[in-house]
Amino acid sequence: MKNERELLMIPGPTIVSPRVLRALAKPVLSHVSGEFVDGYAEALALQKKLFGTEGTPFLLAGSGTLGMEAAIANLMERGEKVLCVENGYFGEKWEEIVETHGGVVDRLRYDWGEVVDPKEIKEKLESDNYKLFTVEHVDTSTGIANPVKEIGKATKDNDALYVVDSVCGAGGMPLKMDKWNIDYALTGSQKALGAPPGISNFCLNDKAWAAVEARKTVPSDYYVNLKRWKPIMDSPRGYFATPATGLVMGMLEALRIIDEEGLEARWKRHELYADAFQAGIKGLGFESYPAEGYNAHTLSVPKIPEGVDDAEMRGIMYKKYRVIIAGGLGRLGGKTVRVGHMGNDTKNDLVSTIAAMEGALAEMGHVDDPGKAVGEMMKVFIKS
Ligand SMILES: Cc1ncc(COP(=O)(O)O)c(C=O)c1O
Repeated sequence: MKNERELLMIPGPTIVSPRVLRALAKPVLSHVSGEFVDGYAEALALQKKLFGTEGTPFLLAGSGTLGMEAAIANLMERGEKVLCVENGYFGEKWEEIVETHGGVVDRLRYDWGEVVDPKEIKEKLESDNYKLFTVEHVDTSTGIANPVKEIGKATKDNDALYVVDSVCGAGGMPLKMDKWNIDYALTGSQKALGAPPGISNFCLNDKAWAAVEARKTVPSDYYVNLKRWKPIMDSPRGYFATPATGLVMGMLEALRIIDEEGLEARWKRHELYADAFQAGIKGLGFESYPAEGYNAHTLSVPKIPEGVDDAEMRGIMYKKYRVIIAGGLGRLGGKTVRVGHMGNDTKNDLVSTIAAMEGALAEMGHVDDPGKAVGEMMKVFIKS
């Protein structure tokens, strides 16, 4: 019989709290029932709090990519220029979406894992007429956290709309749309929010909504046309297309958990997890991939030294310890691994993960002093 107690430590989907699972297991609600309509409205209000905005929240069935596509399909018109600020796999993904919608891509490219520079972004924006620019809060391929606050400060006087992909940030790292001059931000349910995949969460501030209103052309997409959804977000009793009632109620429970913990406390907890995991990585004798000082708090991406087979390590971690981590993404395949530590994860989960990693590496002959990495991690937790 398969033991169902596996430890899912990939950078999304993440472990879902039993409270959310119980909400998901309830009988299906009518989308016009009072319970659902009130629940949807509460979830939207909590989402605004999570994003730090007084703007308009959208909570729709879909994944993070839907939030990316909705930004481009609604904020940009054919032939307009978009600046994609890129330092990893997900930053580069915007290009394809922009081109799919007839936009003209310009890129400000950095090496994967290098941090982007707010001053350079400001200068680039001033050099041309961009409708919007895209930045990754956390690029999940490299584990880097970009200085989204400083970028907002540097670019606030530019007309271009500031679009932030916070799929691997929101709920685990500070995100303050209104204070940081972010016009559009997006996330997905399956990472630091601690719900299963299936919900796309994004918000527009007034400047972004004014750009939607001022369009000369109608978006060529029917379902993703945000003007059709806005009345539902303002008052969820209306109908445009059937909402995913079960997933919305699951999301509501996840957002309530976040609210009960408190954003500041939650951000601090994630920072502690990142510090602890980084200490564990050092204890293994490994280095971290992202530029020094810019490690995300939601995941860690250790470099895999030459001669170490990461697939073998992950295989032993799973077969022997039932711990699941992810391999490197894109061109970092075989060179890094990715460990998520966000959402509902506990200290226990982190200790078990570094122990499984250390155990596997010891078995493979790459660690002589098993227990050292666990010890380094524990020192951080003991001090906390
Ligand atoms: C930073 C980032 N952006 C966008 C996405 C795309 O989200 P999804 O896979 O939910 O469509 C991901 C997925 O992992 C991500 O990590």
